[in-house]
Amino acid sequence: MNVLGFESSCDETGVALVALEAGGRPRLLGDALHSQIEMHQAYGGVVPELASRDHIRRVLPLARQVLAQAGATLASVDVVVYTRGPGLAGALLVGAGVAVALGAALGRPTLGVHHLEGHLLSPFLAGDAPEFPFIALLVSGGHTQLMRVDDVGQYALLGETIDDAAGEAFDKSAKLLGLGYPGGPALARLAEQGNPRAFALPRPLLHSGDLDFSFAGLKTAVLTAHRKLGSRPGDDALADLAASTQAAIVDVLAAKTLRALQQSGLRRLVVAGGVGANLQLRQALTAGAARLGARVHYPPLHLCTDNGAMIALAAALRLQRGLASLRSDGAFDVRPRWPLADEATASLPTRPASAVSPPLG
Ligand code: KG4
Ligand code: ZN
Repeated sequence: MNVLGFESSCDETGVALVALEAGGRPRLLGDALHSQIEMHQAYGGVVPELASRDHIRRVLPLARQVLAQAGATLASVDVVVYTRGPGLAGALLVGAGVAVALGAALGRPTLGVHHLEGHLLSPFLAGDAPEFPFIALLVSGGHTQLMRVDDVGQYALLGETIDDAAGEAFDKSAKLLGLGYPGGPALARLAEQGNPRAFALPRPLLHSGDLDFSFAGLKTAVLTAHRKLGSRPGDDALADLAASTQAAIVDVLAAKTLRALQQSGLRRLVVAGGVGANLQLRQALTAGAARLGARVHYPPLHLCTDNGAMIALAAALRLQRGLASLRSDGAFDVRPRWPLADEATASLPTRPASAVSPPLG
């Protein structure tokens, strides 16, 4: 069975074809991506209307590219899937509309996939795929969550950010330092030349005893430190501040993730989402997990940020387990705000519902 997947939730248009063989592991046959980073750079962030228009321009040429790469034809596609949410409404509608139109034209069913489930399951696209159960750290531009994952669709939220996401902390701090968008990779690059101990920045909630995060205060501390450097800070001082900011974010993420691993007694950790591409974070988690006798699984580096492969894969894994509600009526919707818990078929609540903060978009 071949699954054609479309991702268009934010600033990347991704299309991929995944083959699902009975009992076997899903295989990636083709994968193409267009990043809008250059287009949004001029504005210092994602402009939703421009994002939607660009998805429209890119999506069909990318689909053709994927089929050519896979040596496949549209007739060989059995299911068409798309990111249903969370994300930018207009951007999501492009992928959803194209997928459902294609499904109707081909006489094939469609399925809307949760973007975070895509990230969460993306390590299954690596050569060394994890086994269930595992602890997952999901760190993207809009989400920072720790989860216990017992199987596809079995997700228990252990902790999450109470304000900004880790990716937002990188992006907003980078903006304060005058670096471009997206800030994460830019800040990480500058940090390579700096001293991570040069500035004593806060480690919010490090000792809170729970598995929640808070990054909003860090941004203020970075702003204050930056102001103290005067109107024309030197390159070394900026690199030191970038390195100190990265160290503060990585310290908290690593400490809480390792605590979750230890508390669960599990020996497998999955790290997914754009911030999972951060090399300092990878080093801290790999070293910390090794001390606990645990292994860390990452998606291939180029599949850490948004892509179509993770969407086609998540759909394939759901189909394999009979967890997909396929549609053939040509109807669809998108869910710009959509908690992953809604997609959990057997969630194991580990903390009172009242303690769960509202989902970020
Ligand atoms: O998962 P993703 O591609 O998109 C969302 O679903 O949000 O994550 C994007 C986020 C951005 O905040 C970006 O700055 C961050 O991931 N990011 C990084 C790195 N690469 C991407 N943050 C830190 N270090 C990196 N190397
Ligand atoms: Zn994402």
